Amino acid sequence: MNTEKRRAVIGGNWKLNGTTGDCLAFARELAEHLPEGPLPEIVLAVPYLLVAEAAEVFRDLPVSVAVQNVSVYEAGAYTGEVSARQAAAAGAQWTLVGHSERRQLFGDTDADVARRVKNALSSALRVMLCVGEPEAVRADGGQDAWVAAQLESALADFDPEELDRLAVAYEPVWAIGTGRNASPADAQAMAAHIRACLTRRFGSAGDQVPVLYGGSVTPENAGALLAGPDVDGALVGGASLKAASFAAILAAAAAP
Ligand code: 13P
Repeated sequence: MNTEKRRAVIGGNWKLNGTTGDCLAFARELAEHLPEGPLPEIVLAVPYLLVAEAAEVFRDLPVSVAVQNVSVYEAGAYTGEVSARQAAAAGAQWTLVGHSERRQLFGDTDADVARRVKNALSSALRVMLCVGEPEAVRADGGQDAWVAAQLESALADFDPEELDRLAVAYEPVWAIGTGRNASPADAQAMAAHIRACLTRRFGSAGDQVPVLYGGSVTPENAGALLAGPDVDGALVGGASLKAASFAAILAAAAAP
């Protein structure tokens, strides 16, 4: 394990929430609540239609805009899709890939996830790769193997030169939107496991990839979850919808 703490990354994921106009109100309120001192890297994943607005309103704030997914296709006759190139041109700097809601509700396979990662990188987006086990897998103790397999397939063709454009978010499916966060010890154990997978795959450069925890993160539990030496940040769903609670999580990440 690296003793030098990596820079924290705090992501917000608005999922299918928010309409035009909400970004401006959120940005104004966030600016009022931003904690003093060194901030974590802040990434806000908004719905596609809000990307251009978000890029505009966050221009003077230390907030990068993300999309929540990109197409497996680069361009062509794929009605309803949004490409990585289009997302980047609209102002996104990051994309989530492999969120469990995409995998579970929309049939994303590991192969799809790998294609989305590849398209994101070739369009200069940074990638927040989401991994995490369903409840039944954890009940059987299979979470480490599950997550290792997700990482291996998503990153099979990943160019080590691009590692500074990768973050991994561990989001156990059973903790998302349930109010049942992983314990700080379980979040730390999985973050250490993910780090071991990354260093096995990429050598010491893999150690620098930020590893985040997501799943029912709140201002109340963020400090304890972020205390783990391998937990470099959080990916926040519900609590990212209100600027005040998101800012409180930023403050927890900024605390020494
Ligand atoms: P909640 O914080 O609402 O549990 O959502 C987590 C998540 O899915 C972030 O991507």
